[in-house]
Amino acid sequence: MMSAAIMEHSKISVRRFFLFSILSLSFSLAGGFSAFAEEINCLMCHEQLAKEKVVHPALSMGCPTCHSGIDAADVPHKKTNNVPKGLSSDQPELCYGCHDKTKFTKKTVHAAIGMGCTACHNPHSSKNAKLLKAEPPELCYNCHDKKQFEGKDVHPPVAGGMCTSCHSPHSSDAGKLLLSDPPGLCFNCHDKGEFSRKNVHMPVAGGMCLSCHKPHASDHTALLMKDPYSLCLECHGNVRKTPHAVVGFSSAGHPLGEPKKRKKEVEDPLRPGKKFYCGSCHNPHSSDSVRLFRYKASSPFDLCVRCHKM
Ligand code: HEC
Ligand code: HEC
Ligand code: HEC
Ligand code: HEC
Ligand code: HEC
Ligand code: HEC
Ligand code: HEC
Ligand code: HEC
Ligand code: HEC
Ligand code: HEC
Ligand code: HEC
Repeated sequence: MMSAAIMEHSKISVRRFFLFSILSLSFSLAGGFSAFAEEINCLMCHEQLAKEKVVHPALSMGCPTCHSGIDAADVPHKKTNNVPKGLSSDQPELCYGCHDKTKFTKKTVHAAIGMGCTACHNPHSSKNAKLLKAEPPELCYNCHDKKQFEGKDVHPPVAGGMCTSCHSPHSSDAGKLLLSDPPGLCFNCHDKGEFSRKNVHMPVAGGMCLSCHKPHASDHTALLMKDPYSLCLECHGNVRKTPHAVVGFSSAGHPLGEPKKRKKEVEDPLRPGKKFYCGSCHNPHSSDSVRLFRYKASSPFDLCVRCHKM
């Protein structure tokens, strides 16, 4: 522990140091030289730039590192180059002077970078982490229509504003700035086992999660592109042409959960709260049973008795 006396002493020394700096500063300003003095000098009038919680470490290298074209001997300042704000070079090249350019120039580059890194970052200091002007998702909504991310069913990472759990804000080797292409992206958070049982539904095997799901939000259950019955029929229209599942019993076939006008929806007897439809008998992703049956069944009959006493 430092004694009170020493602490008092060091306070005085600090005060003396500042006094000395300011004196030598005004002295060297008059002479118009000394890089060290210029650095202190800038903050005397521009103090508020470095005041926020998160400070860019580049500031400690001196303002002229980025503003080499500012001659601050007078106010308003003289500019010694033609770059706005007397910057050493235009963005993003200015920033690439210290930040690895390859991270920002992968296959897909965010168009926002063309508007300058400072479209999203404050170059001096910020109240937000990573010097951001606002936290995602608000940052993103400055330029992207918020409506695309709203609906009756919102993907939890989107609802939580975690845009960067799927997208790079800068550039990426995958499409749409994704951290990786689906289905790999989805398996970062969803158990792959659900999608890789013995029999895999063809579009799932092809990694086409987005042929059925929206990534952000939807007005349909389970983020689906449309109501689930119509979704299945989009690729299986012929299922309605012949009696389905109950050939021996009925010429009409089994009810399939087609939306009935002005009637109450039929509920899935095994999944209370969910509508009865194709997905009540079939797993849309994968299954250990034939015909993608949702339940363990080695024949259609094994399946029937799950819901019917026969
Ligand atoms: C990492 C590079 C960098 C450093 C270091 C830097 N600046 Fe800047 N400064 C910028 C950029 C880039 C802009 C333009 C911001 C914009 O266009 O939105 C800017 C703009 C400014 C402006 C114009 C007002 C504003 O906020 O846009 C002032 C004043 C300024 N800087 C002063 C300083 C001072 C004083 C220092 C040292 C404490 C400093 N800068 C250090 C990059 C830097
Ligand atoms: C005596 C006070 C004072 C000092 C010292 C000072 N500035 Fe300024 N600076 C100002 C004022 C006032 C303005 C706004 C008027 C103007 O645009 O010149 C300004 C504007 C600026 C701008 C914006 C120019 C533009 O084109 O919009 C930059 C960049 C800047 N200062 C950088 C610096 C840097 C770098 C230093 C240190 C080398 C510095 N200033 C030192 C007072 C000061
Ligand atoms: C003179 C060198 C230099 C320049 C030029 C520079 N930076 Fe930095 N920047 C650094 C250093 C050093 C760090 C800390 C180490 C790191 O994160 O890479 C940093 C960190 C950052 C961070 C992370 C801050 C944090 O809290 O994690 C951001 C964001 C950033 N810089 C943005 C920019 C932008 C935008 C520009 C261009 C306007 C720029 N930098 C130009 C040196 C620089
Ligand atoms: C569209 C907004 C946006 C633009 C434009 C942008 N950034 Fe970022 N940047 C972000 C976000 C958001 C993060 C935080 C990422 C995270 O937390 O995963 C970030 C993080 C960073 C970091 C911290 C290290 C890292 O990768 O997480 C640096 C350094 C950085 N940006 C530099 C830059 C530079 C340099 C440019 C211009 C070439 C730039 N940024 C342009 C949004 C942007
Ligand atoms: C300064 C404006 C701006 C901000 C802020 C911004 N974007 Fe963008 N973004 C654009 C523009 C412009 C495009 C290209 C046109 C379009 O697709 O709307 C784009 C395109 C995209 C694309 C599609 C890329 C492609 O290859 O098709 C994604 C994904 C994206 N942005 C994500 C984000 C995320 C995530 C954030 C927040 C971290 C964000 N954006 C913040 C301006 C911005
Ligand atoms: C769970 C992962 C995930 C999250 C979280 C996520 N996205 Fe996306 N985003 C995607 C996928 C996948 C695509 C590609 C869709 C496609 O190709 O049809 C996409 C596409 C986009 C596009 C391009 C739209 C288009 O039609 O081309 C933008 C812009 C975008 N996302 C912004 C955001 C923003 C902003 C957030 C946060 C509010 C966000 N994303 C959160 C996965 C995600
Ligand atoms: C960053 C983590 C993350 C990523 C990446 C992710 N998800 Fe999710 N997703 C979740 C969480 C958390 C839930 C809610 C819990 C659950 O159902 O597992 C969820 C739920 C879902 C749901 C059910 C929504 C509902 O309302 O029932 C679907 C469908 C879904 N995700 C599809 C996808 C698809 C498709 C991808 C890839 C494009 C993907 N997810 C990538 C985190 C993620
Ligand atoms: C053929 C269309 C289709 C494809 C392709 C598809 N899904 Fe689904 N998914 C559905 C349907 C339909 C549901 C709703 C199931 C129900 O009735 O509960 C669903 C539900 C989900 C759920 C919610 C939890 C669950 O199992 O019910 C997640 C998570 C999910 N899908 C992720 C994915 C991922 C990841 C991929 C790609 C690997 C994918 N889906 C591919 C149709 C599809
Ligand atoms: C994007 C197109 C597409 C969508 C949407 C789609 N399927 Fe398929 N499905 C296929 C393809 C392709 C096959 C393999 C060829 C075939 O048997 O017709 C298949 C096969 C099947 C099979 C037979 C599997 C076997 O092993 O015999 C069932 C059962 C099935 N799908 C159920 C569904 C259900 C339930 C839905 C709605 C949740 C659905 N499909 C939505 C493309 C699709
Ligand atoms: C009551 C349960 C049940 C419902 C509901 C159901 N199926 Fe089936 N599905 C079956 C059974 C059982 C078989 C196996 C028939 C056989 O092999 O004799 C089958 C077979 C299939 C097959 C593969 C053979 C073929 O007929 O092409 C596809 C594809 C299929 N169903 C799609 C669908 C779609 C799409 C829906 C919704 C429109 C749906 N199923 C609704 C039970 C059902
Ligand atoms: C996931 C549960 C479930 C499975 C599995 C199931 N059913 Fe059904 N079944 C229903 C429901 C619910 C209804 C009533 C549907 C309605 O009212 O629209 C129904 C109705 C019926 C009907 C009466 C049809 C009518 O027109 O009223 C018959 C017959 C039938 N099922 C036979 C079968 C046979 C045979 C199987 C096996 C191939 C089978 N079911 C598998 C849930 C199931």
